Amino acid sequence: MKILLTRRLHDFAIKQLKKRYDVEIYTGKIPMPRKLLLSKISDKDGLICYPYDSVDAEVIHASKKLRAISTFSVGYDHIDVKTATKRGIVIGYTPEVLTRATADLTMALMLALFRRIPEGNGIIRKNMWKVIFGPYEFLGTDLYDKTLGIFGMGRIGKAVAKRGSGFEMKILYHNRSRIEVSEEQKLDVKYVSLDKLFRTSDVISIHSPYTLQTHGIVNLKLLKKMKKTAFLINTARGKIVNEKDLIYALKKGIIAGVGLDVFWNEPISGNHPFAKMKNVVLMPHSGSSTVETRAEMAEITVKNLILALSGKKPIYQVRVQSNH
Ligand code: DGY
Repeated sequence: MKILLTRRLHDFAIKQLKKRYDVEIYTGKIPMPRKLLLSKISDKDGLICYPYDSVDAEVIHASKKLRAISTFSVGYDHIDVKTATKRGIVIGYTPEVLTRATADLTMALMLALFRRIPEGNGIIRKNMWKVIFGPYEFLGTDLYDKTLGIFGMGRIGKAVAKRGSGFEMKILYHNRSRIEVSEEQKLDVKYVSLDKLFRTSDVISIHSPYTLQTHGIVNLKLLKKMKKTAFLINTARGKIVNEKDLIYALKKGIIAGVGLDVFWNEPISGNHPFAKMKNVVLMPHSGSSTVETRAEMAEITVKNLILALSGKKPIYQVRVQSNH
């Protein structure tokens, strides 16, 4: 069988693949050009892809034999799941293993905003630290007793709730459906409407999947409901937040600041308005980017593909309706 990787993976993973298949790896400039993907996919049985590869209906129809798609990600909004499923193509993805890492990065962004870490780091590097210590110097905000609003209570949302509780925050959440009451009690979280979440939280963290329903859902109307002192964090998908509205809200002081790991179009440059604002903390789409997590993702990506190509169920299979 022939498989295509749109980018290199860990050596141990490639080895496992080469033992079984005729493996073609794209090694050029990322992302793999669309035209090339359309031509290369035509005779492949399996595909390993990444969140920036658009595996839409055109790509799926360009393949004659494709039986399995395995994405190195928890998000699968880049894959036309309906079309693939109709064609009988099995899709694997990598949830669970990256939950902790992504939740940790969320907390890192939160702490960076609340305690102004990038700013403090910059002050010293620019030789601007003049006052040794003082009652009013470089004040941040406590996480303790603040309200953390979680939008999207899937695996990552729940892991962030646990971490927020560790910092003694009060946790509210909104999800398309309420989680079990027993789980709410265990996590010590309270379900509220989207409106209430935005009106009452001191920090809102986005953990919903990117779908037609969540496209640009965080817009100016919603941002205007937030407290002027509140922060927003997005480690999910850039297109859940209307970026123009967010820039406007930051410039006008409608919200206090934002921590972003994901963007409308990635990568962004140093000239992006976000990169010029003090109250913005940026990371280059690295929620799952730890040595341990990325190795586990590689392992699962390969296992998912091997299982699907041998007619078995992958460890994690995307279903038309499944959530993160
Ligand atoms: C995912 O897995 O979907 C992440 O966004 C990639 O780090």
